[in-house]
Amino acid sequence: MSIAASFLAGAKSRLLPADIPFRFFVACTVLHVLMWLALLLAAGQATSFRGGLGPALAAVHLLTLGVLTTAAIGASAQLLPVATRRALVAVWPLKLTFWLVVPGLVGLVLAMAAVSTALLVAAALATTAGLLLFAAVTADNLRRAGSLPVVAAYGWAALAALVAVVGLGLALSLNYETGWLPDHSAAALAHMLLGGFGFMGLLVLGFSHVLVPMFALSAAPAKTTSRLGFVLAVLAVALGSAGALADSREVLAAAALLGLAAAALHIRLMQQALAGGMRKRLGLSFVLIRLAWALLALTLIVGLAALYGLAGPNGATLFGFLLIGGWLLTFLLGILQRIVPFLASMHMGRSAAGGPLMSEIAGSQPLKLHAACHVLALTLVAAGIAGDAVWLVRLGSAAGLAGALAYGWFMAGVARRVAVRDP
Ligand code: HEM
Repeated sequence: MSIAASFLAGAKSRLLPADIPFRFFVACTVLHVLMWLALLLAAGQATSFRGGLGPALAAVHLLTLGVLTTAAIGASAQLLPVATRRALVAVWPLKLTFWLVVPGLVGLVLAMAAVSTALLVAAALATTAGLLLFAAVTADNLRRAGSLPVVAAYGWAALAALVAVVGLGLALSLNYETGWLPDHSAAALAHMLLGGFGFMGLLVLGFSHVLVPMFALSAAPAKTTSRLGFVLAVLAVALGSAGALADSREVLAAAALLGLAAAALHIRLMQQALAGGMRKRLGLSFVLIRLAWALLALTLIVGLAALYGLAGPNGATLFGFLLIGGWLLTFLLGILQRIVPFLASMHMGRSAAGGPLMSEIAGSQPLKLHAACHVLALTLVAAGIAGDAVWLVRLGSAAGLAGALAYGWFMAGVARRVAVRDP
């Protein structure tokens, strides 16, 4: 039975109320627009950003917490019960997660922009509580899962990284008041690697093992190679975090090489799934997903070069931008524009009249406009950081903002159709 058939079988019985995943998708969409606006306003500081409170760090967390993490919570809340064939024990923890994480991250972003350490600590505590609650809900689902061992393994590793990134985030926030961290910037780098490659990265790699074969209508990736890819990816994240905390260039370089090997294996497995799939025309979303795979490899190569001073004066900033704005954001926006109409059609399929086609739920014009603006934004911002040209980062952020508004248009269309569907 193909992964698509096994995934879809019973999916309807484990469908959460539409407002649970969609509240996270709508929050992610609104914060996506605000992220590009914040980067536009903070371009002067962002072009050579190397940490510290201020508008650039606020833009970083609008992206990492506001866009990537909210979307990851919304998607995994619905996908995991379907993938693991284990319904969630209750829905209220996800509602509470929303009301802790979203106001918490807005407070965190405002505290970072306004350099208010008191608000920073309070907001960090609320966000931490919400993310740990999400981790508990997901751990409970994974604990009862049996059917997809590789996906579950990636899930557990991503959760472990989430607990570590949140713990370091809280420590970094408290450190502005207490000053007790031995090396603040080492902790900040470990925090970034655990957040980008650890929590988000491992979640993306894990879900790709279900979603890519499902949308391509192909068989599950080869088990042995999948397991090897998982081990290499987790080792790279662990070694990278240790190298950051130890401030060791050699260990960081070894981690980047391991990461490149894991990325190469993953991309090959995904290419094989696409090549073996019954559905060949996968549309614009997979143009973004393929671009994201290329950006993953580029991120690691730029990271390695930056370690040896071969990526220009803003090499470390470029590495960070390619990690969270390049690979992760591009993959997320590619996969969301498949998942969201798919989920909407499942909810609308419940109505008496049966479900509309996915293509009827969302027009393609806004997505074409988004894709063009997104690629332009990434190119201009990356060139601006590499060339230390603030005006290019500003221009790129304006393109990103236009793209985010187009994406919002697409998401608003789908959310409205789900909201007005007949029960
Ligand atoms: C409770 C949640 C979080 C809190 C309280 C938090 C807090 C912080 C703080 C205080 C810094 C500043 C470090 C400095 O002084 O330079 C920071 C940096 C950063 N955080 Fe977070 N963060 C959180 C979650 C995340 C997540 C989930 C991600 C990624 C997915 C992330 C990515 C980053 C990045 C990329 C930086 C910049 C690192 C650097 O300064 O070099 N954060 N965070």
